[in-house]
Parts: sequence; structure tokens; C-alpha cells
Amino acid sequence: MRSHLLILLISLLILKSESINCNEKSHSSDLRVFHINSQCSPFKTSVSWADTLLQDKARFLYLSSLAGVRKSSVPIASGRAIVQSPTYIVRANIGTPAQPMLVALDTSNDAAWIPCSGCVGCSSSVLFDPSKSSSSRTLQCEAPQCKQAPNPSCTVSKSCGFNMTYGGSTIEAYLTQDTLTLASDVIPNYTFGCINKASGTSLPAQGLMGLGRGPLSLISQSQNLYQSTFSYCLPNSKSSNFSGSLRLGPKNQPIRIKTTPLLKNPRRSSLYYVNLVGIRVGNKIVDIPTSALAFDPATGAGTIFDSGTVYTRLVEPAYVAVRNEFRRRVKNANATSLGGFDTCYSGSVVFPSVTFMFAGMNVTLPPDNLLIHSSAGNLSCLAMAAAPVNVNSVLNVIASMQQQNHRVLIDVPNSRLGISRETCT
Ligand SMILES: *[C@@H]1O[C@H](CO)[C@@H](O)[C@H](O)[C@H]1NC(C)=O
Ligand SMILES: *[C@@H]1O[C@H](CO)[C@@H](O)[C@H](O)[C@H]1NC(C)=O
Ligand SMILES: *[C@@H]1O[C@H](CO)[C@@H](O)[C@H](O)[C@H]1NC(C)=O
Ligand SMILES: *[C@@H]1O[C@H](CO)[C@@H](O)[C@H](O)[C@H]1NC(C)=O
Ligand SMILES: *[C@@H]1O[C@H](CO)[C@@H](O)[C@H](O)[C@H]1NC(C)=O
Ligand SMILES: *[C@@H]1O[C@H](CO)[C@@H](O)[C@H](O)[C@H]1NC(C)=O
Repeated sequence: MRSHLLILLISLLILKSESINCNEKSHSSDLRVFHINSQCSPFKTSVSWADTLLQDKARFLYLSSLAGVRKSSVPIASGRAIVQSPTYIVRANIGTPAQPMLVALDTSNDAAWIPCSGCVGCSSSVLFDPSKSSSSRTLQCEAPQCKQAPNPSCTVSKSCGFNMTYGGSTIEAYLTQDTLTLASDVIPNYTFGCINKASGTSLPAQGLMGLGRGPLSLISQSQNLYQSTFSYCLPNSKSSNFSGSLRLGPKNQPIRIKTTPLLKNPRRSSLYYVNLVGIRVGNKIVDIPTSALAFDPATGAGTIFDSGTVYTRLVEPAYVAVRNEFRRRVKNANATSLGGFDTCYSGSVVFPSVTFMFAGMNVTLPPDNLLIHSSAGNLSCLAMAAAPVNVNSVLNVIASMQQQNHRVLIDVPNSRLGISRETCT
């Protein structure tokens, strides 16, 4: 009895010191999205800018490999241990009774995988235990889903095993089905990978939920429920007390929203491509070679929206043109560098606006989406970078920093991607 009172008291104290209730139930099909450094995240990092750019580089190489850019020669990660930590997480309940997991969102991935009990090399102490779930079922080799898994093989127990790499990590897993509960929605027989062996440091600790377009993704598996429609609002990384939202399904989606056609690359079915036709700095449309922005399903070239990259990457000729015009418009100040950012200014200067011109939709970035401010000193940097050289890269990535505090709508049936400003709290 006394210990119960003590626990109650401690819980009350914890609740009081928090300004948000991390366990607050999500409404209907709307999930709360937490930044990795949110109060509600157990995975806080203190990664510096320079390291974030390094992570982004590893991420970019990974995306480029998905996009088929010189696939065979792309190093997925350098020899250094780059922690490709997930930026945003949501709560997923798996099994019967439900086992809660905080899974990373990845809009450029199809697969879902969860560290399972007995896993060798998984960093998390929170593991999914299929033996404690009455609805869990291991898929056999002949299951049709097994053909969609990366590098599938038949294990001695005739279950569907697969190996894959993610960032600098490798995973050994087997395909499982179980009930997935997101907010108040139930998705029966959801297929995902149960990780039993992992190496490397780039895996999200409690697993990953892919929101890509391919056959094994949540979006494809919940077709009846969500009709390949969802939207999200990513909270600012600095507002640790805020959470954003992931709204699944066509219900309650914004009606008045600017949209651009969503394009499909048949060879890289996970990625959400759009047609970026130009970039404006101030009122000047920057001179960018057409080939730097052109969508080409044959090569994977084009522009994607990604939630896992932090800073927008533009192919070099596009980035250089934007940066040069940006610098030209900042009067009476010379740009300096900080880490991988090459357009930084100290003190108070007036910055030009930057507008992404998509087919049928212009998006002007508010200052919070355009500039990153150094906590030490008075530096503000243009929060974009050129795609890494030596990759023969043809991919432009609109990253999470540029998407924060906007609602991004993915509407596959109507082939459109929408954007509107929204404060995600
Ligand atoms: C978050 O909430 C805590 C406690 O209420 C407060 O001390 C802190 O300043 C807040 N942080 C931000 C970034 O708003
Ligand atoms: C995964 O790779 C390991 C090491 O190469 C191998 O022993 C194992 O059989 C592979 N498993 C699957 C399911 O392909
Ligand atoms: C889920 O799988 C089980 C076992 O194969 C099957 O009996 C059940 O009908 C499936 N449920 C749905 C909703 O597909
Ligand atoms: C910028 O650099 C140029 C060339 O080094 C120099 O002449 C000029 O005074 C600098 N301007 C400022 C505002 O520091
Ligand atoms: C930052 O810049 C402002 C405006 O130029 C100035 O007043 C302030 O002293 C600067 N602070 C530091 C720490 O340099
Ligand atoms: C986007 O901006 C350009 C240049 O300012 C303009 O010509 C174009 O009409 C705008 N497009 C839309 C859809 O508003």
C-alpha cells in the first residue's frame, strides 16, 4: 500500500514537471509525432551541426542508392560509425495485448522492422516479444510477401528470413504478421520484419515504420483503411515541448492546400517524387541548368520529399546558383563557413527569401525553415547543402528542416503532394 502511494506521488511529480503529457492518447487516425530530442523521446542526441550534416550525407548516399544512381558503386556509409538516428518517432502498438514501441518514421522506405526479443546486437532494451502476442504469426517461405522482402531466404524452420542494410547497419530478420494499432485504428495481419540480429549503429532503437509507396509499406498494407493518403506536420527540432502529427487516411485532410503532381519512379517505387521546376531567391529566378532539376524515371533523377534527411540537398549546380544569388543579396556582409555550411553570417543581417517553385505550386520558406542559428555566437547559416560530390548525383532532397511547421499531404490516388503552413504543436 505504501509503495503504491509512493509510485502515485512520483508519477504526479513527473507529470507536474512535464509541460506535455507524452502518453496522451492520439485522436482517431491522428498520431502524435515527436522529434528525437523531444521531452517525450527516450532517444535524445546531442549531435552537432557538422555531425548532422555527416549523417545527412550517409542518408543521401542511401537515398541515391534507392534512386538507382550508380547503384553498384555507391558506398552506403563510410568506415566511420555514423549514427543515422531517426529524426521523428511515433507510438505504435503491436500485438495482442498491445506492446507499445516508439518507431521511427521514414517516408522513403517501405519496410517496417522491429527489434524482437532475443535479438543479438539490438541497442534497445524495449523489444517486441512475439511469443507474448496471441495474434503473432511467422510467415512461411511460400507466403507471397516473402518475395517482396529484400534478399529473402528460407530458414531451417521454413520461415521467411531476410537480410538488409540500413545506413551503415545490417539486419537479419524474419517476416512476421501481427495486429498493428495506430492511434485508435487497428490494422490486422500487418507484415513486418522481426529483427533477430543487428550490427552497426544506424538503426532506430525501437524499429522503423516505412511510409513509402512500395508493396510492403504501411501505406500499401492499409490500403482499405487509409487509401494511400496521409499527411504529417513535423515539429521544429528546437521546440522540445511540442509534438507534430501524422494523420492517416483521407478523412480530416486539409481541403484548401496548394498541391503539385506526385510523380512515380517505377524503378524506385518507395520514393515520393515531385517536379521542382525552379528556385527563386528574393524576386530572382535563379539560373539553374534544366538537367539539374529534371525528373527522369530511367535514371532516378529528380526531386523527392524525405523525412529522414535534415537539411535540403541540391545537386551541385543548383546549390551553387542558389547560394551565389543568396550571398549576392546579403548586403554589406561576407559569408563565412561553419562545418559543412558555407553561407553563414554573424550579427543581424537581412536575408533574402527562398522559394521552391514546384509544378503548379510555389513554396516560400519562412526564416525558420531557411536559416539555422548557431547557439554559440551570432551565426546564421543557410540550412542547405550541395549533394555530396563523387556520387554523380542527380537527386534533390527536400528535407525535414524545410518541411517543419508545414502540413505535407501525400495523396497517392489523386497523384498530388500538398503543402500548407501549420504550427505543429
Ligand atoms: C519546455 O517545458 C519546460 C517545463 O515547462 C520549460 O522549462 C522549458 O523552457 C520548455 N522548453 C521549451 C523549448 O519551450
Ligand atoms: C544473412 O547473412 C548471414 C551472414 O552472411 C547468413 O549466415 C544468413 O544465412 C543470411 N540470412 C538470410 C535470411 O539471408
Ligand atoms: C489474418 O490472418 C488470419 C490467419 O491467416 C486469418 O484467419 C484472418 O482472416 C486474417 N484477417 C484479416 C482481417 O485479414
Ligand atoms: C568583404 O570582403 C572583401 C574582400 O576581402 C572586403 O573588401 C570587404 O571589406 C568585406 N566586407 C565586409 C562587410 O566585411
Ligand atoms: C549579436 O548581434 C547583435 C546585433 O548585431 C549584437 O547586438 C549582439 O551584441 C551580438 N551578440 C553576440 C554574442 O555577439
Ligand atoms: C510561381 O512564381 C513564379 C515566379 O514568380 C510565377 O511566374 C508563377 O506563376 C508562380 N506559380 C504559381 C503556381 O503561383
